[in-house]
Amino acid sequence: MFDTVAVVGASGAVGQIIRQLLEERNFPARKFRFLASARSAGTPLTFKGEEHTFEELTQDCFGGVDLVIASTPDDIAAEYLPAAVDAGCKVIDESGYWRMKENVALVIPEINPQDALNAKGIIASPNCSTTQMVVALKPLHDFSPLKRVIVSTYQATSGAGVQGTADLHQGSASYLKNEPYEYKAFAHPIAFNAIPQIGSEKEHGYTSEELKMVYETRKIMGLPDLKVNPTCVRIPVANCHSETITVETESPISPEKARELFAAFPGITVVDDLKNGQYPLPSTCDGSDDVFIGRIRKDISCDNGLNFWCVSDNLRKGAATNAVQIAELLSENL
Ligand SMILES: NC(=O)c1ccc[n+]([C@@H]2O[C@H](COP(=O)([O-])OP(=O)(O)OC[C@H]3O[C@@H](n4cnc5c(N)ncnc54)[C@H](OP(=O)(O)O)[C@@H]3O)[C@@H](O)[C@H]2O)c1
Repeated sequence: MFDTVAVVGASGAVGQIIRQLLEERNFPARKFRFLASARSAGTPLTFKGEEHTFEELTQDCFGGVDLVIASTPDDIAAEYLPAAVDAGCKVIDESGYWRMKENVALVIPEINPQDALNAKGIIASPNCSTTQMVVALKPLHDFSPLKRVIVSTYQATSGAGVQGTADLHQGSASYLKNEPYEYKAFAHPIAFNAIPQIGSEKEHGYTSEELKMVYETRKIMGLPDLKVNPTCVRIPVANCHSETITVETESPISPEKARELFAAFPGITVVDDLKNGQYPLPSTCDGSDDVFIGRIRKDISCDNGLNFWCVSDNLRKGAATNAVQIAELLSENL
């Protein structure tokens, strides 16, 4: 087992769930440390019934640490994580900064665990909207190779961190009282609205969030030419991202077969009974580690097309759970 584990960004939306998961899953280690910015340093927290305090993240804070699980903004991951690697730590990073770099493993344990075990430096955990989609795509691709993927996302405000959640709550309360509210995490009001931009503008009119879904999916699945066409939308749901996914495969996959393939795959739960109004909802998937799939049906516009609806807790499988699963994989293979 690892001797000392440092959770970096431990006060954030993802970091809070990482702490919770390390407790819940009884992650084996002798010592845990919790790091964040100077703003949080000295603030007390309780972990496994013991009192701790947040420490400030610095370049020389990694001495004696064996494993770092980090969830900070990209610039902080860029600035500090090389020091952790130099100090000899295994490093798992949630940020977007390292994912597409050469020699950085990008890992979903159900899909490409070997990449984590072979990694020499930082192991990155994918973008939240990518992770749930790739988990859903993998059993289909194993049955009949994917030709094309079209995805539209309905992303929760917790994807924009602690401030995203605060904006949804405070913005909604202000809206109902007809009072002004200055949004900090979003460029437009998110209360009672839908914003078809997540991230910055990139090539061909796509956003950075959309291109993450293209490039990260290709890297994790080892399919450099896979055609992926995403549209990412922020909606006023507090937690859990939803996605409509349409796939075209080389040979047809019937809805019955897809249900069977999904149900047999680790980490997927099928909830698919339209007649009785049963399908995954953000409200029912909140707090779960699985990827939930429903509304499985043939794409009536395409011979080998299949449609489905996919919901997952972006703070859990989309972030913290995936990182902790990678940590467990490393721990079991020390
Ligand atoms: N939210 C999601 O669904 C999700 C999913 C997948 C990946 N991610 C990625 O995970 C990362 C964290 O996201 P989040 O949603 O948890 O954000 P967040 O709630 O804003 O938390 C950010 C964390 O980083 C720390 N931090 C910020 N500036 C720092 C600095 N100068 N020095 C040291 N620590 C600093 C914060 O500490 P203080 O509290 O002290 O400021 C906090 O612990 C981001 O890269 C995000 O893209 C998020």
